[in-house]
Amino acid sequence: MKFFLDTADVEEIRTLVETGLVDGVTTNPTLIARSGQLFEDVISKICALVPGPVSAEVTAVQLDGILAEGRRLAKIASNVVVKVPLTIEGLKACRILTQEGIHVNVTLCFSAAQAILAAKAGATFISPFIGRLDDVGETGIDLVYQIAEIYTNYPDFRTQILAASIRSPRHVVEAALAGADVVTLPPPVLRQLYQHPLTDKGLSTFLEDWKKTGQKILAR
Ligand code: E4P
Repeated sequence: MKFFLDTADVEEIRTLVETGLVDGVTTNPTLIARSGQLFEDVISKICALVPGPVSAEVTAVQLDGILAEGRRLAKIASNVVVKVPLTIEGLKACRILTQEGIHVNVTLCFSAAQAILAAKAGATFISPFIGRLDDVGETGIDLVYQIAEIYTNYPDFRTQILAASIRSPRHVVEAALAGADVVTLPPPVLRQLYQHPLTDKGLSTFLEDWKKTGQKILAR
């Protein structure tokens, strides 16, 4: 399972890359706005820090505009993945960009039917939004289970499931159980994954007991 970071905060990415756990990055217009930086600059900086896929989202909604923006974004770095919305125009663009050798992440997926369309359009990634479905009273992870089953039924579908809108460690575990290829994590969720009170308590006890021995591992 791959871990992407769901942020456009370059300093956060720089710090978390050191964990060795970061396989890629996803951004969206909201995250770019939050970064306070110029879109192409921030994508370029992220691509230099992370060798894996870095999603950069188009903001055009008509085919010509999506294609023009997608081609421009793809030129920023070889690891840019162009993110397009799950609309008719977005999926037309997905097919064309994919045929041009550009990797595409189809975003804002809220149904299994939409995920079938994205796979047929040749998307590299489909992004089901788990947290936003939970927010409206659905069980977001059920969508990942459905997509995983459908894609398994059709081995010619090569699209990877990128579980997005992740809000908690529970979502990460559920996405793994459901068979997601990738989870994209807000930095606080990645940090939360390390935490367990019994780990802290156990370590504290071990260190106290070790101190009582008076020994040092590097003493001799
Ligand atoms: C990632 O590709 C998505 O844009 C992101 O996960 C959305 O998360 P949110 O629902 O927390 O905004």
